[in-house]
Amino acid sequence: MLKVDFQKQVARVMLDRPDVHNAFNDELIPQVTQTFSELGARDDIRVIVLGGNGKSFCAGADLNWMKRMVNYSREENLEDARVLARMFHSIAKCPKPVIARVHGAALGGGCGLVAACDIGIAVESAQFGFTEVKLGIVPAVISPLVIARIGPGRAREYFITGERFLAAVALEIGLIQHVVAHEAALDALIESKISQILTSAPAAIAAAKELVFGVAARTLESSVEFTADAIARARAGEEGQAGMTAFLERRKPPWIEKTNNK
Ligand code: COA
Repeated sequence: MLKVDFQKQVARVMLDRPDVHNAFNDELIPQVTQTFSELGARDDIRVIVLGGNGKSFCAGADLNWMKRMVNYSREENLEDARVLARMFHSIAKCPKPVIARVHGAALGGGCGLVAACDIGIAVESAQFGFTEVKLGIVPAVISPLVIARIGPGRAREYFITGERFLAAVALEIGLIQHVVAHEAALDALIESKISQILTSAPAAIAAAKELVFGVAARTLESSVEFTADAIARARAGEEGQAGMTAFLERRKPPWIEKTNNK
């Protein structure tokens, strides 16, 4: 259901239900959550790539599984939805950078997975859409992450029409960050992002992710203390000290030396 390959400091997490375009169900969801929480805690992993085996990235929630909910009690149904929400959070709040490798379909919750990642890169033929309304349901648990990416105005249009759109539109509305012509270019761009990330400090990256979520959730006024605390901790911290010293002494910072030695 989920395959994880390791290559040096990079973990490639591949959804592996190709027969159903990697739709996620009650078996796959906890596997994704657990994998991201484990990878997030590993010092030897610096970057995670999330992709899908077969023709698609992810066709969203498994509709056979969703349909079965009619037999659940309200509390069971709610708890199941919370588990689903936690899967998206485990990706978004993972302290490691996560890159979405998007090809084929990224529909419904598949778009949610893209929005949960830090960097979304897609081939131009990839097909996106918040198709939930076409099925009589709503893009609920993914909405905070999606709205943070595309804004409420665009979300209203795409959540209501449920229309499918190509990568160029996903780029224009801010759901993804890059579009490439074909899969070889997809992997090349991902490698270049990985190389950039490996020269950045691991704890600083985690703090930068927290910074974005923290500031987005605050008013400008209450951001003063929050951001002051973030830079105060970083500049007096071990990495900040080592990084600034290395720059001033024209040496490589320790995390790059470590990367080169792996
Ligand atoms: N849940 C369960 N099964 C799904 C699925 C989903 N979300 N998406 C696709 N599948 C299954 C199909 O039922 C089909 O099963 P079958 O082989 O037993 O008939 C199989 O995957 C292949 O799908 P098919 O539609 O025949 O392939 P395609 O290449 O023509 O189209 C998609 C692929 C993904 C574009 C199309 O299946 C689709 O639009 N799926 C719906 C996605 C959606 O709306 N998701 C939102 C969920 S909230």
